[in-house]
Amino acid sequence: MSKEHVTLVVNGQTYKKDVDSRMLLSDFLRETLGLTGTHVGCEHGVCGSCTVLINGKSARTCLSFAVQCDGFEITTVEGLGTVNEMHPVQQAFWEKHGLQCGFCTPGMMIAAVDLLNENPNPDREDIVEAVSGNLCRCTGYQTIIESVERAAELMRNSERG
Ligand code: FES
Ligand code: FES
Repeated sequence: MSKEHVTLVVNGQTYKKDVDSRMLLSDFLRETLGLTGTHVGCEHGVCGSCTVLINGKSARTCLSFAVQCDGFEITTVEGLGTVNEMHPVQQAFWEKHGLQCGFCTPGMMIAAVDLLNENPNPDREDIVEAVSGNLCRCTGYQTIIESVERAAELMRNSERG
């Protein structure tokens, strides 16, 4: 299989790699970079568990080849925050118990970040729509929606300083 040289900025760090031309972005993140926070469920663009931000917008990594993202900026769940310094969305999912097994959680959180970057004051309908492309088979959506509402509140509060 032919190899191509790509340069991607992932979570603020620049990576220059030779990749198979048909390598999925999900495999590039997980296998080449070891960023296994991006989960792979359906591999068909249905479940949303593989969602990351590509140039600031949420997108499914199982539907993109790494070579298509040459020169792009990617943010995975690992780039949101750390255990000691959580992103408000991570803090909110923790506070509101927005997860059980955690499989869908990285994708849910990235979808939430995308929504809140666009709309700091989402109503319930906006939140439902934003996470509607992400499937959760265990938590039920109630606490996930409450988590996104809480994240919006935390982000507004931090802006007020
Ligand atoms: S693994 Fe990509 S949408 Fe399900
Ligand atoms: S928390 Fe298990 S799939 Fe959502």
